Amino acid sequence: MRSIIDTLDLTVEELQGLVDTAMDIIANPSSYSDACRGKKLATLFFEPSTRTRMSFEAAMYELGGNVISMTDAATSSASKGESVADTAKIVSCYADIIAMRHPREGAALVAANNASIPVINAGDGGHCHPTQTLADLLTIYREKGRFDNLTIGLCGDLLYGRTVHSLIHAMSRYENVKFICISPEELKLPAYMEEGGDYENTTSLEEALPRLDILYMTRLQEERFADPAQYERLKNSYVLNPENMKLAKEDCSVLHPLPRVNEIAVAVDEDPRAAYFRQALNGKYMRMALILKLLGEAAKDKSKTVVTGEIEEGCTCNNPKCITKVEQELACKFRRVGEKKLCIYCDAEM
Ligand code: NCD
Repeated sequence: MRSIIDTLDLTVEELQGLVDTAMDIIANPSSYSDACRGKKLATLFFEPSTRTRMSFEAAMYELGGNVISMTDAATSSASKGESVADTAKIVSCYADIIAMRHPREGAALVAANNASIPVINAGDGGHCHPTQTLADLLTIYREKGRFDNLTIGLCGDLLYGRTVHSLIHAMSRYENVKFICISPEELKLPAYMEEGGDYENTTSLEEALPRLDILYMTRLQEERFADPAQYERLKNSYVLNPENMKLAKEDCSVLHPLPRVNEIAVAVDEDPRAAYFRQALNGKYMRMALILKLLGEAAKDKSKTVVTGEIEEGCTCNNPKCITKVEQELACKFRRVGEKKLCIYCDAEM
């Protein structure tokens, strides 16, 4: 039985398998309408969400399954101080699969280690958001017809934007993919992300635009800024509008995980290159494909999710957003990557 915490938990072959299933669902929706009859998805959202939670729920309904839901941490046992580990054990008694969003980095892994059903990470702080990446991948596939030989511009909040981190993990495994990172100095991609890929940094959207096959716009993650004045200063750093869209290639696809704040002018929606609303729909199909895959695997193999690779103890994670900072009974654990020690929960360097 497997949980999905990061896009890297899925091999390139498995990602292609999910894309193929999603394409088949699009072509033959009725053949899937009973696929999860009698199964329950629990959506646990400790942080606000519209499209991610609703697209998970719509996905389960379209597979003929049911949904039970916790949409507000303030009215759940979390407000009484229940740990993520306990919540995961309890929900395992009621549901067959969990989709969880939590503000703490690494919370999804804690849930997966304690649940006896598959857990899908629907966003853990600024860390990962693998099912948004599945939506992004199906969109890239449908818009561009390929995953290799692409120049991808990532624009906006590359520091706190978890969708960007998960997308890089997925796309850096394909041949000849170049990332152009467009952000203010203060919101650059964390250094640990830049390993082993082809990255270029710039602060200018206009300079990068003519070279891009895909432009992935993101909003600044206001809720993750420690200093509100910094957010105010940076919030309008990049605005895509019909004027600068003239600089983009004729077949450049514009993606955005949404919600947008004002980094894409509404007038751009008319442009055929604007793929972000199609992307939101693609997310539902990919979540259907993922639920089917994980429930299918869980039916065959009940053994527990474990973090793979060699795990060591004896360090403290310095990331203030790490789940280990609030759930004190969790021992900090790390894995070695080259010279570095990375927290197994949030991937921050220790
Ligand atoms: C993203 C998220 O939650 O990280 N939204 C989403 O999943 N559709 C992006 C964001 O909130 O900016």
